[in-house]
Amino acid sequence: MHTTDAINARRSVKRFTATDVSREQFESMLAAATLAPNHKLNQPWRFYVLGPDARYAYGLALGARKAKKIEDAAAGAALRETVGQEHRSLPGMLAVAVVNTENPETREEDYAAAMMAIQNISLTAVTLGLGTHIKTGAIMNDPAARAAVGLPDDQRIIAVVNVGTPSEEVPPKKREPATAFTTWVP
Ligand SMILES: Cc1cc2nc3c(=O)[nH]c(=O)nc-3n(C[C@H](O)[C@H](O)[C@H](O)COP(=O)(O)O)c2cc1C
Repeated sequence: MHTTDAINARRSVKRFTATDVSREQFESMLAAATLAPNHKLNQPWRFYVLGPDARYAYGLALGARKAKKIEDAAAGAALRETVGQEHRSLPGMLAVAVVNTENPETREEDYAAAMMAIQNISLTAVTLGLGTHIKTGAIMNDPAARAAVGLPDDQRIIAVVNVGTPSEEVPPKKREPATAFTTWVP
């Protein structure tokens, strides 16, 4: 598949079939991830392939945050468990982290490089017949989420990526053409 075809076909996929993502498929995606550009070749990314127990624990952490907004304690506990089980049922899930640095310039570069690695993951997934969904948010700094991933103190999660075989066709989202954002500077 041509790169442009993969770029055109990529979607954020929310619904997957029950087929698990294989170790070989993860290895292909992660091999592509490590080919992303990164300043001084410092390879700031760290990848965590989450199995069902880790996914469940991450989902419980997320569910607990959602449950805080609910007054009824029983309903909150049920929601937490539902989100936990939803995550356990995912066919594949990655947490992508970077190694922290005190230098603000390096911190920004490392984040950018790891996001480029995630794009490589997403495009490679397309070539494998898989879909991805990048997710971020305050959950990434939640101690329970960090514990679910087994994250060392010197790293921070920059995104989780759900992966699986799309169970339905996802239409493209409308975007403005590049001309709307482009200035040709003489
Ligand atoms: C850095 C980043 C963070 C994102 N975080 C979330 C998220 O937390 N939840 C979510 O539903 N989608 C998230 N997305 C997916 C975007 O919403 C999605 O890419 C956008 O709606 C365009 O749709 P498409 O990917 O199908 O083209 C994220 C995407 C990026 C690049």
